Amino acid sequence: MPTHHHDRILILDFGSQVTQLIARRVREAGVYCEIWPFDAAPSDRVDAFGPKGIILSGGPASVTDTHTPRAPDHVFTRGLPVLGICYGQQTLVAQLGGAVETSDHREFGRAYLDVTEASPLFDGVWAASAREQVWMSHGDRVTRLPEGFRVIGTSEGAPFAAIADEARRFYGVQFHPEVVHTPHGDRLFRSFVRGICGAAGDWTMAAFRAEAIDKIRTRVGAGKVILGLSGGVDSSVAAVLLHEAIGDRLTCIFVDHGLMRAGEAEEVVSLFRGHYNIPLVHVEAAERFLGRLDGVDDPEAKRKIIGATFIEVFDAEAAKIGGAEFLAQGTLYPDVIESVSVTGGPSVTIKSHHNVGGLPDGMTLTLVEPLRELFKDEVRALGRELGLPDRFIGRHPFPGPGLAIRVPGAVSADKLDTLRKADTIYLEEIRRAGLYDAVWQAFAVLLPVRTVGVMGDSRSYDHVCALRAVTSTDGMTADYYPFPHDFLGRVATRIINEVRGINRVVYDITSKPPGTIEWE
Ligand code: XMP
Repeated sequence: MPTHHHDRILILDFGSQVTQLIARRVREAGVYCEIWPFDAAPSDRVDAFGPKGIILSGGPASVTDTHTPRAPDHVFTRGLPVLGICYGQQTLVAQLGGAVETSDHREFGRAYLDVTEASPLFDGVWAASAREQVWMSHGDRVTRLPEGFRVIGTSEGAPFAAIADEARRFYGVQFHPEVVHTPHGDRLFRSFVRGICGAAGDWTMAAFRAEAIDKIRTRVGAGKVILGLSGGVDSSVAAVLLHEAIGDRLTCIFVDHGLMRAGEAEEVVSLFRGHYNIPLVHVEAAERFLGRLDGVDDPEAKRKIIGATFIEVFDAEAAKIGGAEFLAQGTLYPDVIESVSVTGGPSVTIKSHHNVGGLPDGMTLTLVEPLRELFKDEVRALGRELGLPDRFIGRHPFPGPGLAIRVPGAVSADKLDTLRKADTIYLEEIRRAGLYDAVWQAFAVLLPVRTVGVMGDSRSYDHVCALRAVTSTDGMTADYYPFPHDFLGRVATRIINEVRGINRVVYDITSKPPGTIEWE
């Protein structure tokens, strides 16, 4: 449960793809919020949560159909401010006695909102009579307002693009203020949650740090905690936070599977053991992993072997740590949000998250998940607050199976070694060009293809190295990064000159979809 003394906002989810962005904008305004499925918000649960306001998300349904989602009636009788977005606006209108119709003028993408009237919703956001870019995605539109409402903004395809009932503090917008394509959307959320709802902007990572430490101490008491440290941002931040709370009663287990990038294992060990002085078990298990992977070329088989071996090694080490009662994980909020099923089926499915699988028989550990209220950007901010180096916090995501999925086909120590050298040069050049932070993920791939080349006076017959760099916000979709040609040329020349075994470099320009970010 979240801490009790922060004002909070409740977001009811109608299944939009971008509901999480609403929560992120609200939190950026310094206000704690949670996302609940629209049909998992009975009155007593909402009472207990005690929100200062409610936001109704967008969603794929049409309120003009029967049996489509509706907000619980109590949402409109609590005396709380309500903001409906897209589908949320339409259901608000339909439920309060207005009308919504399927329009033959559908609006998708960029649109312009004409602010027609001043409203507290627009305070500090847009001036009266301004024309502002917004993002629309709708087929239905409001055609008659419920009593008490007036229009405060219009767009070409939506005459009721922004509506308000100031007396009841009910608002609706047809556009999506949560997406970046509505440039001032963040201010609109701030105006709603801070101005209209009157929520205090006290959700900061400095406050979270102090409260999380108290909560960990209460939960763990005098117990001992084990944490699987991967070197990624989430487990690293969880480790430092736990260590601050319980000191040496935390032991981190770092399973080094031999599939890390150059220097990475040493960096993790020196940072956590050396700098932070956190008890750390460094399990050097490369031989075991590579032995199991020997000759295996099927990508899924490789993943399964790595996953199973990881659990085996972790469990064996965990069992050696006497008296531990708790297992800490770096689970984040997106992993625990209950999601709305828009395809029928059970209306609520809860995603579960398991970084560490089974534990040995007889070992019953209680989970501690100190980051489960946070989004990734909040975890990074908390990491900075805890003094983790920027270089560490800003690291690109790295997959659990590591370099094994960047060597398509069978993996060997030699191939990994070659790949590491190429990858190091590539990342070095990216950093030197100041592009590291502009890219979501960048890495080299060692292809199982050999091609002919001329090196000096002789022919070579060596491997091809593919370079990948993408931009993305969540890893679900991605675009290739448009490096300048001279940059790519420089990296290719360095790799071919400096890495024995590679004589050709190619750049991957596939987006996701249809491609994936990794090659396996
Ligand atoms: P794909 O290749 O599916 O990758 O487009 C999306 C994101 O997920 C990472 N990824 C993985 N992470 N175990 C992980 O922990 C995996 O098996 C795995 N496969 C892909 C990938 O690096 C990217 O950030």
